[in-house]
Amino acid sequence: MSRLARLCGREEFMQERLERIREKALADLARVQNTVELEGWRVAYLGKKGPLNEILREVGRLPAEERPAVGQASNRIKAELEEALGRREEELKTAELREAMEAERIDVTLPGRPPSVGFLHPITETVNQVVSIFASMGYQVVEGPEVELDYYNFEALNIPADHPARDMWDTFYIRQGEGQDVLLRTHTSPMQIRTMERMAPPVRVVVPGRCYRYEAQDASHESQFFQIEGLAVDEGITMADLKGTLATFARRMFGPDTRVRFRCDYFPFVEPGAEMSVTCVACHGVGCRVCKGTGWLEIMGAGMVHPKVLAGVGYDPERYSGFAFGMGPERIAMVRYGIDDIRLFYGNDLRFLRQFA
Ligand code: FA5
Repeated sequence: MSRLARLCGREEFMQERLERIREKALADLARVQNTVELEGWRVAYLGKKGPLNEILREVGRLPAEERPAVGQASNRIKAELEEALGRREEELKTAELREAMEAERIDVTLPGRPPSVGFLHPITETVNQVVSIFASMGYQVVEGPEVELDYYNFEALNIPADHPARDMWDTFYIRQGEGQDVLLRTHTSPMQIRTMERMAPPVRVVVPGRCYRYEAQDASHESQFFQIEGLAVDEGITMADLKGTLATFARRMFGPDTRVRFRCDYFPFVEPGAEMSVTCVACHGVGCRVCKGTGWLEIMGAGMVHPKVLAGVGYDPERYSGFAFGMGPERIAMVRYGIDDIRLFYGNDLRFLRQFA
């Protein structure tokens, strides 16, 4: 008869089983690496279906005098394993905490990350510069509606309905054919009329604002863009004042060596009309890619206010005269920064815009 068989059902055999369970449990516990594995260990050894409970269930089959010893032994081992479990749990939790702290460790000596600070859009910046140059020459800044009446955008500027000059401005109409047409203004010139209606001479204003044209977009044309209008009306204003004022502006804007050139141009609300160019900011007049070899960059339209326009707002054209001009800040920014496509300004590409921070 084997030893096992002889001992089967006896206290000594049960004690031996308990000892083996204890040893294996403690050895397994030492190998447990984290709290998840620890829970597995707890279920395996101390759980309902664990070996200790199995032995306790078997105690009933022992002779009555042997039961207390086996019962006590299994309770002692259970308590020992529970205690070891508690200790291991503490150890693992401490190790896991240390690991987490290690992973999240911050170096307080590192320099801080600078918060991102906003900055002005290059066109806003350009508008501000132009406006402040004119403000320093005594010009007042006024603004007007972007949704405009046909009367101010065309009629009062000496561009009656069906006048071929209307073709110069492709227009977004908001309401058409029901009395007065309403449109998105195609230029800031309507503010010449609105200003003169409100003020008696002398008038000196600059008008920055958005304009809209229904036209195909390309590298130098947007359907939404800015203009800055200027108007000066008083007794005795001549073309010399126009040239002096705009040449002063050009030198302050583009540098003291800048030269200006006026050439005849046609706008129905001025007479004579001109376009003004400045010496190319890139080559200083020599001729390069930016100025297409001409040495000049056209930056605005200008002219002496047409007597019909003055009369239309109730100014006496025999007594008063004046000059007006209109420039596009996008085009000015393009020549200043050497940008060859106007669409970049409104593409919202931060890589482009951050260059102006
Ligand atoms: C006018 O709009 C006239 N009102 C200017 C003027 C005012 C002349 C006062 C005489 C007296 P023009 O259409 O050329 O003119 O536009 C003036 C400027 O606006 C142009 O030189 C250009 O810089 C800008 N501009 C015109 N159309 C566009 C466009 N589609 N995209 C971007 N800029 C434009």
